[in-house]
Amino acid sequence: MSAIFITGNSRGLGLGLTRHYLDKGDRLYSLSRSECPVKHANLQQIRQDLSQLDQIEQSLQSLLPDAPDLVILNAGILGQIKDLTDTSMPEIKTLMDINVWSNKLVIDWLIKHNIKVKQLIIISSGASVNGNRGWGAYSISKAAVNMMAKLYVDEMPGTHITTYAPGLVHTGMQDYLCREVDSIKYPSIASLISAYQTEFMPDIEIAAGLIAGSFEKCLQFDSGSFVDIRQLTAS
Ligand SMILES: NC(=O)c1ccc[n+]([C@@H]2O[C@H](COP(=O)([O-])OP(=O)(O)OC[C@H]3O[C@@H](n4cnc5c(N)ncnc54)[C@H](OP(=O)(O)O)[C@@H]3O)[C@@H](O)[C@H]2O)c1
Repeated sequence: MSAIFITGNSRGLGLGLTRHYLDKGDRLYSLSRSECPVKHANLQQIRQDLSQLDQIEQSLQSLLPDAPDLVILNAGILGQIKDLTDTSMPEIKTLMDINVWSNKLVIDWLIKHNIKVKQLIIISSGASVNGNRGWGAYSISKAAVNMMAKLYVDEMPGTHITTYAPGLVHTGMQDYLCREVDSIKYPSIASLISAYQTEFMPDIEIAAGLIAGSFEKCLQFDSGSFVDIRQLTAS
């Protein structure tokens, strides 16, 4: 039985991963803004809005096990697809707080409390390297996460760190992208719409199985690497 800490498991990929690991008999510790709909003896959860940076440390205090085998920093927001010129600083700040700085605080807490983690996965995105029109603040936040992971490598010598792009997963994020965004103004959306409701954008149960199954393969890359699931499945 492994001990796993995960953020953002009330829905989407985090919920799929939670169900996957509980089905395998693992013990889960989770931190989410909304309640996770799963109730299970092996699931311990704390509700915490990760944009409230000053509260994170206190929440972790009451939650984390001594030595989680795996930490998955999954919680994240997309924000709105729009031009960077039209994106306000408060919007960017909120997105950076949730997608980047909350993860920094969790990692700092692990280091300061000498909590030994075998593997740390920070969920990133293909958007961290693509730079397509409209993905501004989100892309910046995920690129920052990729660099942040590299910077932590020497500060966490016993932990293998990966920033991980999970590919397309049918969650609320994709419902927004495929149903509400103008694919003429933002052409990168067209390929998402083509994949939407097909096997190329699996639901959270199928995606969680594929993604969790690939975390082991991340260990073959240098700690601090950015790994895209599409690299792993192609090899
Ligand atoms: N879906 C994809 O195709 C895709 C592709 C590439 C990368 N990703 C990345 O994968 C991760 C999961 O995405 P998803 O598609 O599963 O998104 P989702 O369905 O929108 O779920 C996001 C999760 O993060 C939590 N969260 C958001 N803001 C939070 C906050 N302020 N405090 C605490 N928890 C918060 C949500 O909790 P609430 O329910 O309380 O909001 C929810 O549990 C994200 O990091 C995303 O960037 C997804």
